[in-house]
Amino acid sequence: MKQPISGDTGNFDKSWRTRKETLYNHWTAGQPANQIQLAFRSHWEVFQDLMGPLATTKGCVLEVGCGRGSLSSYFAHNGWDCTLLDFSPSVLDTAKAVFKRNGHSASFVPGDANRLPFPDSSFDVTCSIGLLEHFEDVRKVMSEQLRVLKPGGWFLGYVVPERPDNVQRYFRWVNAILKLVAKLGGNGGKAVVAKPDIYRSDFDSTHYANELKGLPFDNLTVFGMYPMPMISHSPEFPFSLLPAPVEWVLTRIFEGALAVRRLVTGRHGWICSEQMGQAFLVAFQKAPVAP
Ligand SMILES: C[S@@+](CC[C@H](N)C(=O)[O-])C[C@H]1O[C@@H](n2cnc3c(N)ncnc32)[C@H](O)[C@@H]1O
Repeated sequence: MKQPISGDTGNFDKSWRTRKETLYNHWTAGQPANQIQLAFRSHWEVFQDLMGPLATTKGCVLEVGCGRGSLSSYFAHNGWDCTLLDFSPSVLDTAKAVFKRNGHSASFVPGDANRLPFPDSSFDVTCSIGLLEHFEDVRKVMSEQLRVLKPGGWFLGYVVPERPDNVQRYFRWVNAILKLVAKLGGNGGKAVVAKPDIYRSDFDSTHYANELKGLPFDNLTVFGMYPMPMISHSPEFPFSLLPAPVEWVLTRIFEGALAVRRLVTGRHGWICSEQMGQAFLVAFQKAPVAP
């Protein structure tokens, strides 16, 4: 079988063009209705805490590899000036439609994460959800975002590594049963359609920290995120949802678990050890310019 290639965007484009998951809306102003809405709501809450005063002063944010722009929807809804960049033309059309539907405004820019089409020091925040793990050379992608950040601006990189040993390992049997049920006709009688293979690294946060050496950054912050399983007959990107009532119940259960985690750990329940999380965060600020 042909191995997926680092930085290859063709299969992303194919997924966005052909899969019904493209139409999901991961942003909601109300109560999250499913696992992915809860995930993006939780990402947003954690990022706000991390950005500190900047979360209230607001500013310009760039989402790189925006997909539907689910995280940007949170920024836009909270008054930030948003720019969304992606290599895939289909995805930018999708993101535009999502923003229009939700009454949000933003700029949509086609481009490559390796060569951002913006001048130096343009943004207060750069962010990405599920982008960095698709590159072998992460230094290039991180240094481009540092270049376009203003001094003191935040880089927020949410990484979903290829790693079978996180919290998901305790729930593999649940997903195996769901997959079987979907195959046997529970999925509206349709077979589960195979997803195109996309390159994903298994680098942990130490790799990202090492790749940052010599770059102008401060306050490197790393922690695991998403300590809940993804319960689905098709948990691979792009994640497929279960029937709405099942999603609603699961989401309430996860919210309860997160509240208990917060009580026990004293921090947001979405934060966890890197080993346990479905993902981890690599965040830092651009160092101030020397006088
Ligand atoms: C896992 S998806 C991100 C999904 C997104 N966070 C969301 O909320 O829907 C990764 C995205 O990165 C984009 N991408 C991959 N390589 C890229 C590159 N070199 N430059 C810009 N975007 C890229 C893909 O087209 C895809 O939309």
